Amino acid sequence: TLAVDAAGRGATIDRSMYGVFFEDINRAADGGLYAELVQNRSFEYDKADNASYTPMTSWAPTSLNGGTGTATVADDDRRLNERNRRYLKLDLARGEYGVANSGYNSGIRVEKGKQYDFSVFARTDRAAGTPLTVAVTDPAGKALADPLRVQVRGDGWVRYTGTVLARESSALGRLALTASGGGTLRLDMVSLFPRDTYKNRPNGMRADLAEKIAALEPGFVRFPGGCLVNTGSHQGYEAPNWERKRSYQWKDTIGPVEQRATNANFWGYNQSYGIGYYEYFQFSEDIGAMPLPVVPALVTGCGQNKATDDPALLRRHIQDTLDLIEFANGPVTSPWGKKRAEMGHPAPFNLTHVGVGNEENLPDEFFARFTEFRTAIASKYPGITVISNSGPDDTGTTFDRLWDLNRNAKVLMVDEHYYNSPQWFLQNNQRYDTYDRNGPKVFLGEYASLDNKFGNALAEAAYMTGLERNADVVKLASYAPLLANTDYVQWKPDMIWFDNQRSWGSASYETQKLFMTNVGDHVVPSKASATPATVASISGAIGLSTWATSAAYDDVKVTSADGAQLFSDDFSGDDSRWSKVAGRGSWAVTNGAYVQADQAAENTLVTAGDPSWSNYDFSVKATKTGG
Ligand code: AHR
Repeated sequence: TLAVDAAGRGATIDRSMYGVFFEDINRAADGGLYAELVQNRSFEYDKADNASYTPMTSWAPTSLNGGTGTATVADDDRRLNERNRRYLKLDLARGEYGVANSGYNSGIRVEKGKQYDFSVFARTDRAAGTPLTVAVTDPAGKALADPLRVQVRGDGWVRYTGTVLARESSALGRLALTASGGGTLRLDMVSLFPRDTYKNRPNGMRADLAEKIAALEPGFVRFPGGCLVNTGSHQGYEAPNWERKRSYQWKDTIGPVEQRATNANFWGYNQSYGIGYYEYFQFSEDIGAMPLPVVPALVTGCGQNKATDDPALLRRHIQDTLDLIEFANGPVTSPWGKKRAEMGHPAPFNLTHVGVGNEENLPDEFFARFTEFRTAIASKYPGITVISNSGPDDTGTTFDRLWDLNRNAKVLMVDEHYYNSPQWFLQNNQRYDTYDRNGPKVFLGEYASLDNKFGNALAEAAYMTGLERNADVVKLASYAPLLANTDYVQWKPDMIWFDNQRSWGSASYETQKLFMTNVGDHVVPSKASATPATVASISGAIGLSTWATSAAYDDVKVTSADGAQLFSDDFSGDDSRWSKVAGRGSWAVTNGAYVQADQAAENTLVTAGDPSWSNYDFSVKATKTGG
C-alpha cells in the first residue's frame, strides 16, 4: 500500500541534480567523443603510453603501381614545434609512395554523400614542390571518395586543407597519403574530421555520441576524471610537457591542437588532448550543463597512496586552479580570459563549482592540501563552491575520517564514489535518510551497480528514488563511467557503448534518461507498507570458511553466530550468483545475493599465500542488517 501525502512538500529538487561524468577511459575521447578519424595523427604514439605502441601505430606504408620509398618517423630539429616532436619523413624513390591510416576499431567510417575536412602540415625539400594525393579507400585500395590533390611547396611547415566527399559508405576506410617526384616530404598532424560534428563545431564532437549525452539533458558535466587526474599528480610536473607520464594538467590541453603535446593516459593509451579544457567548457555550454572540473590535490589514490611534500609544487597547482577559474570566467583583458577569447569564446563559461581531489585516500594528508586550495580559491573567488572528496568507498575508516574532516571544517560539498552489486543498491535505498541536514551536501560523483543488465538498471532506478527523496542533501549525482569503445575497454559497466560506426545506450542509460529528463520540482512524501520482507536477517558475528590457494577459492561457507549454516557453495553448479567486484588495484568476487564483507560487515582480510589448498576459518562482524 502506498500512502501519498499529495499536499505535502518534501525536498526541493534542483534542475542540475543529475549530470554526467566524462572521463577519458575506455577511449572515451580519442576514437570516441572526439570526432577525429585519424589515429596517431601526429606520430607521437610511444611505448611509454602503451607497450604495444610504436610511432607508426595505425599507419602502414602504401604505394600505387609499384611505387617505392621509405616511411620513417623522425624526431629532430625539423619538427613542427617543440611540443609536437615527431613527424613522418617520406623519402620518395620511384612512382607514387606513402602511408595509410587505419583509424579506430575496424577503420575510418565514411558515409556516402557526406563531407570530411582533411588537413595536414607538410614541407618538401624538392624545389619544384611535391604533389600529394589524399584518398579514402577500403582496405583493398578501392576508392570510397574522390581523391584530393595538394601541391606541397617549400621547406617550411604549412597547413594544407581540403574537403573530401564520400561516394560510398564504409566502416573499413583507410586514409592514404601518397606522393611522387623524389625528394623528401615531411608530414605531421594528418587529420580527417566529419563536417557534421555536434553543433558543427570545428575540432568538435562525434555527433551521435554527443547527441546521446545531450538527450540526457544533464545538469552538469564532471570532467576530465577520475583516476585520470589524480594519479601521478605529484610526478612529472616540472618535466617538459611532451614528456610521457607527465601528470594531467589543464594548461597542456588548450591552444591550437598541433601545439598540445600528447601524453600517456592513466588508462594505458595515448591521449591527444584534442578534447581539452576549452572543448569541455564549450561542450558543457552546448548541452546546457554546468561545467564541473576536478583538479588533483597532490595526494594520489587509484592504487597509489602518496602525498607530495613539495610546497612549491603545491603552490603551483593551487595557482593553476586559480588560473583555471580565470580561464573560465575572467574578463578578456585578464591573461587567461584572453586565451579563452583567442580560442573563440570571449564570453565567460560561468564556472561555479570546482572539485579538488578524486578518491584521494590519505585523509589527513589530503585534507591539509585541500584546505590550502580552498583558502586560496575562497579568498580570490568567494562565489566558487569547492568540492572535497571522501575516498574510493561507500564506507570504512578512510571514508569516515574524510567525512569528519569535511564536516568539522564546514566544507560545502563532498564527492562520494561507489560501485556495488545491484543488491547493495536495493538494500541501501535509505543511505541518505540519516545524513546530517546541516552538514556538507553530497555530490555523488560516481556510482553504478556492477553490470549492464536490466536488473542493474532497475536497482539503480530504485536507488535513485532514495537520492531524490534526499535531494536536500544529495545535490548532484552522476553515473560512471559514461562512455566505452567496445574494442578498448578498461572498465565496465558503462553508460553508453560505441564502435566506429554505432552507439547505443545500456539499460542504465535508459534509467538515467528517465530520471534526468523528468526532474521534479520537489518530493511528494509517500510511505509504502507491506513491503516484501528481505529473505533473512544477519546480525552479530558471522563465521566464514573457505578453502583457498593464493589464486582460487572453493567450498565457501557462511554460518551465523549460533552456528547455523546460512550459505554454502562448492562451485559444482551454477556460478552465476557470483560476480566480479572492482577493488582498488585488485579484483575480488562477491556473492552479491549474500553478505559482502566490505559493505555489510567489518572487513576481514585473509591472505591465502600458499599455492596449495588450505582451509581458512575466520569471522566477521556484521555492521548492518540485510537480506
Ligand atoms: O569511473 C572509473 C574510475 O572509478 C574512476 O577513474 C575513479 O575515480 C574510480 O575509481
